[in-house]
Amino acid sequence: MNLPASALRDDDRRPPADELLETVQRGLRARPKRLPSWLFYDERGSELFERICEQPEYYLTRCEIALLREHAPAIGAALGPDVRLVEYGSGHAHKTRLLLEHLERPVAWVPVEISAEPLRLSVRRMAECFPHLPMQPLGADFTRPLRLPVPPRAPRRTVLYFPGSTIGNFDHAEAAALLRKMRAEMGEAGGLLIGVDLKKDNAILEAAYNDRAGVTAEFTLNMLARLNRELGCDFDLAAFRHRARYNAMAGRIETHIVSTREQRVRVGRQRAAFGAGEAMLVEYSCKYSVEDFAALATRAGLRVERSWFDPQRMFGVHYLVRA
Ligand code: AVJ
Repeated sequence: MNLPASALRDDDRRPPADELLETVQRGLRARPKRLPSWLFYDERGSELFERICEQPEYYLTRCEIALLREHAPAIGAALGPDVRLVEYGSGHAHKTRLLLEHLERPVAWVPVEISAEPLRLSVRRMAECFPHLPMQPLGADFTRPLRLPVPPRAPRRTVLYFPGSTIGNFDHAEAAALLRKMRAEMGEAGGLLIGVDLKKDNAILEAAYNDRAGVTAEFTLNMLARLNRELGCDFDLAAFRHRARYNAMAGRIETHIVSTREQRVRVGRQRAAFGAGEAMLVEYSCKYSVEDFAALATRAGLRVERSWFDPQRMFGVHYLVRA
């Protein structure tokens, strides 16, 4: 049942170049300008994100792993035996491994990932640790409706695993819509295990998105390098800078790319004009208190059955079921 990632289903491929161009042109026409954060993750961007996770200020990954080290046995017990684990945006398999070690007779692991190469790599790494675990990689955009592969045997429940606080990239309305979609995909007896960054002190949050080594800044500006390469744009990377600030009212880090001077940039056959100091929104990283997240779950027809936290209470993992 271990399908090679080359057997990707062809209903959900990466958007073709003209779709990419259209997305970017639309974002640059918007006022204020805004580009979607999935544009970060080309090969270089994925590499830079891995490096962000190693920065001392970026506590999220470390805390989520510490949480799993401490609570994976309890999480495994809450999910129960014969689970089919469907992972959304399975970048790195590290956290998944900690979880799978504590699942009783998992039916299959279904990593869902839009980029073919990371998907292939994560399957290969996982197969080394769990040679008997059936794997059914799905090359798809998890924000769109998924057709899950037929499992190798009947699972007791399907659990969707969505770690890393990736939910934070969506605003509240989008997040509720995504959770509603997941509610449908997990079925009657299903569950959703989701990693969510907690609200906390402003300085800690801002430091996490402004690491001293400048890796996050490089990650942010890599989006422009990608557009130069893939769309033939002529962004001058020296004339833009990274800015990440915590908006306490909205409960989110807002990352902008700021133009340091007045300039024009070629985007396909169009030109985009930037004013000096003009900021283009490229990412939200929404933070949720336990109450905030329970309210979001309710909007999606779900309820929080259990929550676990790391020892420093920086990060939460919640297990949601149908309300
Ligand atoms: C992968 C979306 C969880 O928002 O913290 C890290 C991405 N951006 N540093 C986050 C990110 C800048 C990250 N997520």
